[in-house]
Amino acid sequence: MEIIVTLADGSSRTLVAGEGLSVMEVLRDAGLIEGECNGSLACASCHVWVDEAWNESLGETSEDEEDMLDVAFNLAPTSRLSCQIFIGPATNGIRVALPKAI
Ligand code: FES
Repeated sequence: MEIIVTLADGSSRTLVAGEGLSVMEVLRDAGLIEGECNGSLACASCHVWVDEAWNESLGETSEDEEDMLDVAFNLAPTSRLSCQIFIGPATNGIRVALPKAI
């Protein structure tokens, strides 16, 4: 499986993503984000903008995710915490972008 990430400079990379991993883990292992709290909804360093075409299929954000997004920089309508998005058949090929402040 894979994810496609747009970097702050506008370039894109396709990353191999193991099923069951979070998008945060894939981005962190590629050296693109910090993922400081390791997915425990305590840092917002995994903030991404999800491509609009994919965003609806992810479902609603949880209250805890919303609370952390409130402290993230450069919020967009499709902002999500990538530690809450998991790789599987429904998210294979998902496109996300790194907010420019990161
Ligand atoms: S890794 Fe900290 S909130 Fe996602």
